Amino acid sequence: MLFLNTIADVRSQLAAWRRAGEQIALVPTMGNLHDGHLRLVDTARNLAERVVVSVFVNPTQFVQGEDFDSYPRTPEQDAESLRERGADLMFMPEEKEIYPRGREGISFVEVPGVSEGLCGSSRPGHFRGVATVVLKLFNIIQPDVALFGEKDFQQLAVLRRMVVDLSVPVELVGVPTVRESDGLAMSSRNRYLSPNERQKAPALYRTLKGVAECLESGERDIVTLEREAMARLAGAGFEPEYVSVRCADDLAPAGGDEGALVVLAAARLGRARLIDNLRVSSDSK
Ligand code: PAF
Repeated sequence: MLFLNTIADVRSQLAAWRRAGEQIALVPTMGNLHDGHLRLVDTARNLAERVVVSVFVNPTQFVQGEDFDSYPRTPEQDAESLRERGADLMFMPEEKEIYPRGREGISFVEVPGVSEGLCGSSRPGHFRGVATVVLKLFNIIQPDVALFGEKDFQQLAVLRRMVVDLSVPVELVGVPTVRESDGLAMSSRNRYLSPNERQKAPALYRTLKGVAECLESGERDIVTLEREAMARLAGAGFEPEYVSVRCADDLAPAGGDEGALVVLAAARLGRARLIDNLRVSSDSK
């Protein structure tokens, strides 16, 4: 596996692979890789001859007061996991490589609508930072396909919209969430949970499952379902931010004859802010 830090080196390597007729898959990450990320790499290997994994803790997607400085950084461990998993290139740029003019007064990508509400409400500017860095990575690597975890459901919706709005020539693939055996969605931020909080954490998944099952059995009083789910999370020791039933395609509020639904939630548990989501089986309609 190659390990490169500069845009120039990555571009010349990718040009060689492209000249050889090879397709490129990109897995963008912030490092501290877990099985969820490695599932993205496995899927990528089935979709393209070459798999590039970027590891960059992107400062512009952290809101004031969030964990940018303390975000876990484990580059040696990440390189080892990626090598074992058969990735071809780990791209780990310095901040100045990605933001040569700093973080202020620079061009940003705004994706209106789908980036508003849900996590967009509590993390203003977050999706702007995500869309910007992902477009930069697309411009640097020019992948044929890029893979993202469905755990960050709103992020994936924002990026799908960006790619359409800005005619970016890349196929986006969402990969289902990888869970611990008790249902907790894998996340680098799970390490912020104390042992006691870790025991409580699967209640988030159970709560989403409860809402999805009610919807699948025909219940359509969405406001009550969301309110009861918030209360259930609070009772389990969380500080819930939202539980929301939305249209899976565009995250519009559910309410009528829409197609597939998804239930999304965000809640704090101690130092950790956890997010998760579950699609509602469409057989229920
Ligand atoms: O999902 C993430 O890890 C990040 O938001 C991403 C897509 C790598 C952009 O920094």
